[in-house]
Amino acid sequence: MEFVKLSDGNKIPIAGFGTYQLTDREICKKAVLDALKVGYRLIDTAESYAVDLYMNQEDKPVINQIEFNSFNQNFEEEKIMREYNVKPEAWVPFAEGKNDIFNNEVLSEIGKKYNKSVVQVILRWLVQRGIIVLTKSTNVDRIKENFDIFNFELSKEDMEKIKTLDTGSSQFFNHYAPETVKMLNNLHRN
Ligand SMILES: NC(=O)c1ccc[n+]([C@@H]2O[C@H](COP(=O)([O-])OP(=O)(O)OC[C@H]3O[C@@H](n4cnc5c(N)ncnc54)[C@H](OP(=O)(O)O)[C@@H]3O)[C@@H](O)[C@H]2O)c1
Repeated sequence: MEFVKLSDGNKIPIAGFGTYQLTDREICKKAVLDALKVGYRLIDTAESYAVDLYMNQEDKPVINQIEFNSFNQNFEEEKIMREYNVKPEAWVPFAEGKNDIFNNEVLSEIGKKYNKSVVQVILRWLVQRGIIVLTKSTNVDRIKENFDIFNFELSKEDMEKIKTLDTGSSQFFNHYAPETVKMLNNLHRN
């Protein structure tokens, strides 16, 4: 496991297990126990999810969790976070399967070279950018697959190739639209 050093001096594993949408107590318990057995030590959980506006805060967060995936690569946002020494963390690294990501040709061709799957290429690409990744699965084989990303390294060329998949926009919603802001504010209040 690789670790990321945070601005408060603590360190955090670069690969974590997500619990979003694991609303069934027993399924959630089993998945988290499977993840711990596989080796995960970072478990992501939250009362609600919202966008952080950290630039003017006195106590800046040490981590900022935003959407990072092959179709929404967020290099500009990453740059700003690093400027403020806030570590980026990726939610929905698989874009919840949107755009047929699990069968993407570019990712699949790259994976063949390393004998790795599309999801392992996606995760490795984020980890090589120094981004903390969160994956959730209720399937133990997938949990293992998502953790098995520390025994290969993508070449510079392949890292660049993946950049061509960027659409420059969210796969889910426009973070700047008033209705999104309203929805996020309501999440906070509930
Ligand atoms: N989605 C959000 O809105 C959101 C917001 C904030 C934070 N987060 C955090 O980010 C974590 C990850 O996000 P996410 O799970 O919502 O989206 P995701 O990473 O895009 O994953 C989507 C789905 O892919 C499946 N999957 C996982 N590993 C796989 C594999 N190796 N091969 C094929 N399919 C695989 C999982 O379903 P199965 O269980 O069926 O395998 C999962 O539900 C969350 O659990 C949460 O901690 C998410």
